[in-house]
Amino acid sequence: MQHLTVVNHPLVQHKLTLMREQDTSTAVFRQLLREISQFLAYEVTRELPMTTKKINTPLQEMDAPVLAGRKLALISILRAGNGLLDGMLELIPSARVGFVGLYRDEETLKPVQYYFKVPDELGERMVIAVDPMLATGNSSVAAIDLLKQAGATNIRFLCLLAAPEGVARMQEAHPDVPIVTAALDSHLNEKGYIVPGLGDAGDRMFGTK
Ligand code: URA
Repeated sequence: MQHLTVVNHPLVQHKLTLMREQDTSTAVFRQLLREISQFLAYEVTRELPMTTKKINTPLQEMDAPVLAGRKLALISILRAGNGLLDGMLELIPSARVGFVGLYRDEETLKPVQYYFKVPDELGERMVIAVDPMLATGNSSVAAIDLLKQAGATNIRFLCLLAAPEGVARMQEAHPDVPIVTAALDSHLNEKGYIVPGLGDAGDRMFGTK
């Protein structure tokens, strides 16, 4: 898989435009995120290992394709990552789910872990870390550091929007982790927001300010 995949399907791009609009309500924003997450999940799971099993159709026996190996792990980077989970779990209901919570230390500006709970045997699973916004990349890089320390070796990163700065930071720190996104935006502003972006994804999906 290439390092950055932008899912430029017309339905994804149309839904993303609706999400970006400032007047889109919390309920509609959440529903659109759920819908787009399924297109992104479709793309990010392209290389799931397959095997075959013998089944009987009404006409004959066949060797039919099925997923192989351990169930994949979806890892939500709190809190905005949770907005991507429901839609992805509809598509992949047997996936295991983990959570990584990080906050930014205001003195060092470094991400600090406050929560970490992930499925066992991470090294035997495809691990998909999810966070809607890849902005500076600091928390994404830190979350992936933690997943690697926990044994993950086959990791992908799924986001709704990416900034070039975040993509570069990830490429430098974790060149082995492919990124799947719906759009690569222009740049980060001085406050670390993606431009043109959609604002604070967590606030928009949870109705907070
Ligand atoms: N996080 C957000 O929610 N929005 C941004 O634009 C950047 C980081």
